[in-house]
Amino acid sequence: MSVRRLHPEQPADFALTPENLEWAKKQIARYPEGRQASAVIPILWRAQEQHEGWLPEPAIRYVADLLGMPYIRVLEVATFYTMFQLAPVGKKAHVQVCGTTPCMLRGAGDLIKVCKNKIAAHAHEMSEDGNFSWEEVECLGACSNAPMVQIWKDTYEDLTPEDFEKLLDDIAEGREVTPGPANGRRFAAPIEGATTLGEIEDDTVGSDPLPHVVDGAEPASKVVAGTSINGGEAGVPVTGKAKKAPAKKAPAKKAAAEKPAPAKKAAPAKKAAPAKAAAKAEAPADEDDAGKPTLMDKAREGGADDLKKIKGLGPKIESILNELGVYHFDQIASWGEPEKAWVDAKLKFRGRIDREGWVEQAKALASGEETAFSKRVEAGDVPTSKG
Ligand code: FES
Repeated sequence: MSVRRLHPEQPADFALTPENLEWAKKQIARYPEGRQASAVIPILWRAQEQHEGWLPEPAIRYVADLLGMPYIRVLEVATFYTMFQLAPVGKKAHVQVCGTTPCMLRGAGDLIKVCKNKIAAHAHEMSEDGNFSWEEVECLGACSNAPMVQIWKDTYEDLTPEDFEKLLDDIAEGREVTPGPANGRRFAAPIEGATTLGEIEDDTVGSDPLPHVVDGAEPASKVVAGTSINGGEAGVPVTGKAKKAPAKKAPAKKAAAEKPAPAKKAAPAKKAAPAKAAAKAEAPADEDDAGKPTLMDKAREGGADDLKKIKGLGPKIESILNELGVYHFDQIASWGEPEKAWVDAKLKFRGRIDREGWVEQAKALASGEETAFSKRVEAGDVPTSKG
C-alpha cells in the first residue's frame, strides 16, 4: 500500500452543488439518527466526482461538517481507500491497474508497461495532455477475470496489452467503450463453456444456464438420452441427478412447451440410443443443409491446424468443430454469413463467431500470419488453450 498524502496544492474552498447537496441529504436520511457518518463514503465519492475526479482537503472538511464528524475521521477514510484520489487525475481517465497476485500472474505487469508507455513513466503522473493518469492498486475484486483495470466506476477485464492499448485509444478519441471482459466471455463464465453442472449440455455460455438450476425445472430438453454428462460416449445412461429432477416442478409454461418426458423413461440404460442418433433426433436442424460449409472427413496430411489459436475457441469447441469436419484455418476463413449461421446453430454459442472475429482471425492464421492471441497460445500463455 502506498503512502497517501494530501496534494500540496489545494483549492481555497469546496461546496457541493445544490443538486449534489440534495442528493447527499437523501443519503444521510437513510440512516438512523446518530448514524449519519454511515453516509461518508458515498458522499465523499460524489464530492470527488464533482471535483474533476479527486478529493481536495476542503472537500474532506466539507463532508465532515455535513455529517457532524471530526475532520480526522473523514481524512482517515479518504486516505485509506484507493477509490479516493488525493491529487489531480487525468481528465478523461484515471487508470487503476490491479497489481495483486492473480492479476500479476495473468499479465498485469504488461498492462503497467502500457501505462508507462502511453500515459506517464510514473504512477500518479499526468500524461502530457493532462487527459490520463494511472496507478497500481491492490485487488479490485475481479480476480477471476484477471488481469483487469478500473477506470472511474467501471472495470475492464481479461485484458491483453493490445486490448488495453485500444481501450486507451478509444477513450482518448472519445469513442464508446464497453466495460467487462475483453475476451467475449459472459461475466466470469468459463470461456470454453460450462465446466460444472455437466448434466446440462455445454451450450450455456452466451445463454442462461441458471433457470434450470434455480427454479427446479428438469433440464430434460437439454439432456440427450443415452449420453454421458459430457455428451461423450454412446450408450451411457443419463445421470442419476438428471433422473431425480422432478418434471412437475417446472414452471407450467415451460413444461407445456418442452413436454419433458418423465425422468424414468428418459434414459433406461437398455433403451439408451447411441449419442449421435439421439443428438440427431433432438436436433432436426441437423438435416438442414442450408448454409452448410465445406466439411472434411479428416484433416489434411500433416494434421489439423490448432484451432485453439483462434481467440474464443477452446479445446471443447475445437473438438466439436473437428467432429463436424472443420480442421483447418482456411475452412473457417471461407465462411460467409450462411456458413456462420449454420455453425452457430450447431455450437449453440449464439453470436460468438462474429463477436470474437473467428473468420478474420482464421484468415490471418491461414495466410501464415500470427495474431496477438495466437502468439500467446504459442508461448503457452493461455491455459484454456492447452489440451
Ligand atoms: S487480484 Fe486483480 S482483481 Fe483481484
